[in-house]
Amino acid sequence: MDDAFFDRPIERRGSHSFKWDLYGDGVLPLWVADMDFASPPPVAEALAATAAHGVFGYALAPESLAEAIVTHLERHYGWRIEPGWIVWLPGIVPGLNMACDAFAAAGEAVLSLTPVYPPFLEAPGNRGRRLVTVPVAPGDGRWELPLEAMEAAVTPDTRLLLFCHPHNPLGRVWRRDEVEAVLDFCRRHDLGLVSDEIHCDLILDDLGHVPSALAGPRDADRIVTFMSPSKTFNLPGLNFAFAVVADEELRRRFLRPAKGLLAWPGCFSISGAEAAYRAGAEWHGALLGYLRANRDALESFVAAELPRVGMTHVEATYLGWLDVHELGLEDPAAACRSAGVALSAGAAFGDPACLRLNFGCRRATLDEALRRLRTVLV
Ligand SMILES: Cc1ncc(COP(=O)(O)O)c(C=O)c1O
Repeated sequence: MDDAFFDRPIERRGSHSFKWDLYGDGVLPLWVADMDFASPPPVAEALAATAAHGVFGYALAPESLAEAIVTHLERHYGWRIEPGWIVWLPGIVPGLNMACDAFAAAGEAVLSLTPVYPPFLEAPGNRGRRLVTVPVAPGDGRWELPLEAMEAAVTPDTRLLLFCHPHNPLGRVWRRDEVEAVLDFCRRHDLGLVSDEIHCDLILDDLGHVPSALAGPRDADRIVTFMSPSKTFNLPGLNFAFAVVADEELRRRFLRPAKGLLAWPGCFSISGAEAAYRAGAEWHGALLGYLRANRDALESFVAAELPRVGMTHVEATYLGWLDVHELGLEDPAAACRSAGVALSAGAAFGDPACLRLNFGCRRATLDEALRRLRTVLV
């Protein structure tokens, strides 16, 4: 598999695509986090086989799916989990909301670092918990864990830290010592830790991902890890994700708030997810090469052509975070849309002077979007 697979134009308008069908024909959508690429061919084949069967009854997630996940985590991260630790979810967002209920009582506090994927900021309020935010610290050319500010923000009624690892939208891969510092922080303040590792298979630099639960084996009774094949293999439309919770009592606590509310995984989610984990490796390797080139092109363009836009190096994800505060635009996302590019507005992530750009698209789409952005972001 090579770049030609990812360069292939695929019309997404009219395919029930949130990304492409929300805005008019004149707008290139580089916002919501899915990619414009076809998923690994074995996934399409598995889904076609499921469709061909023609009977779409209630599904039973097979042991082979859990085994495929266990193998993936051991092979890529050296993290050995038991199949019984896996909790199937229809998405990570429900899981974030469940965790707020499970760890904190009404009115108690939940910590999130900002800017961050919006549901981290919404989940505590959805569940009647109090959101406390701490800005990630702008270091010398890279974002830093704001440990001092976290210490200052934590209160006796803080119960949970929502940790995005790697971080969306900053593209930062948290190193082992940083993960250990987060674990130490949670231990000292007796906090639960939600480690959302959905982007962990999308590390673009030569850096390893250290699962929080691997770094903190003695913290099993406070860690809920979220993972999913949906970003890795571009399957978010299959509505499939999972949590890994090693501690049996915590697993029960995490599931309690969702009693009667969670759908089981369906037959398409199951066959797509298993095919991705079992047979998606070649595609995944080629994808990382393609995304790396897009990332490099984006970073070079911003440095050379948009001198008043700030951007730090993206270590992971297919998302770039653009700081446009120097431009003084009243509504930066609206200004970009008027130039024909839809980006995600930073306000929802906790910083209205920023924009998130999704470079999980054909290089030709990225180049055209950047050409258009040059007319508004200078
Ligand atoms: C950090 C993070 N968590 C969760 C999600 C969404 O997960 P799901 O579609 O499984 O709810 C995203 C999607 O962009 C994300 O970036």
